[in-house]
Amino acid sequence: MKTLAIVGCGHWGSNHVRLFNSLPKSRVKTLVDNDGARLARLRDQFMGTQCVQDIAEVLRDPEIDAVVIASPTGTHHRLVRDSLSAGKHVLCEKPLAKTSDEADELVEMAGRAGRVLMVGHVFLFNGGIIKLKELCQTEEIGKLQYFAASRTNLGPIRSDVNAAYDLATHDISIFNWLLESEPETVSATGHAYLQPRVEDVVFIAMQYPQGVVANIRASWLDPKKVRQISTVGSKGMATWDDLDLTTPVAIYDKGAMAEPDYKDYAEFLRISMWDGDVRLPRVKLAEPLSIQNQHFLEALDGKPYRSDGHFAAGVVRSLEAAAKSMARGGAPVTVQKK
Ligand SMILES: NC(=O)c1ccc[n+]([C@@H]2O[C@H](COP(=O)([O-])OP(=O)(O)OC[C@H]3O[C@@H](n4cnc5c(N)ncnc54)[C@H](O)[C@@H]3O)[C@@H](O)[C@H]2O)c1
Repeated sequence: MKTLAIVGCGHWGSNHVRLFNSLPKSRVKTLVDNDGARLARLRDQFMGTQCVQDIAEVLRDPEIDAVVIASPTGTHHRLVRDSLSAGKHVLCEKPLAKTSDEADELVEMAGRAGRVLMVGHVFLFNGGIIKLKELCQTEEIGKLQYFAASRTNLGPIRSDVNAAYDLATHDISIFNWLLESEPETVSATGHAYLQPRVEDVVFIAMQYPQGVVANIRASWLDPKKVRQISTVGSKGMATWDDLDLTTPVAIYDKGAMAEPDYKDYAEFLRISMWDGDVRLPRVKLAEPLSIQNQHFLEALDGKPYRSDGHFAAGVVRSLEAAAKSMARGGAPVTVQKK
């Protein structure tokens, strides 16, 4: 049985409390939130669970094995650093930090201390994305050419980070995981309509190795909730729609190809297209956050784990490059290699 503390019990942290309490091998001993009014509500909601305002109490408690950080992004670096220094394992919400220097420092600390540092890139535990990963590995749709992602809704609107750090983080983590690499360059533009210097909508283009391109449109200022990715390969195509609860992935035997051999210029110009069957593969439908948290508990037992600090630092490097590109009006920025 692992004993946990959840730090930051707002919208998302409350889901961690519910799920870790429902898993057979964990119990949540302490909730930490620095907002007194919220803490009072948490006391009523989770009776019998210790509720404190300062993480220091958790860090002194020898019974706590691991700390789950679900506070705003700007607080992650300090809270993760203090937790690792106190010898705790950490599951931190995405993104791990605001800068790659901060993220790298945390990865080094976890390595030195021999502690688990996992980051809540929850889409790595989403059944539909896992299906896309299988598809990329089997090369059923041929050589990957490009991805296009849309992640929009009206709200929730944040003021501490922009739509890239809040929303596009998910798509960057998905693409880095599917391709097992990080982008070489990132170009991005963003527009702040509601609050100064907090971009509500961002358009990000990332160039990965071997000519694969990934585009992201992310916005919390949009009439429609969309969570979609189109994947285009040389032999077929696939779509993922997270809001399709029964068949989120569709694989299309569909595509276009220039004639490889041609006799004259007219034939050279000919592109042949095919439009075959659509397959709807079975996708394991389970709550991704529950799968992720179960995975964290297995990591605490020494099993290899997904979405570790190294991976999360790579996502932060891409976000940082996107921020630099936005500041330069969309000019491509090279992603620093670690
Ligand atoms: N994986 C996902 O799909 C997903 C979804 C939503 C949010 N998140 C992440 O979860 C984190 C929190 O987001 P949220 O939507 O729950 O925000 P929220 O504002 O609803 O909750 C944050 C909570 O943290 C508390 N807090 C702030 N500073 C603190 C500190 N120093 N110590 C303790 N508590 C502190 C606040 O009082 C608040 O209750 C963010 O990093 C966000 O990116 C992830």
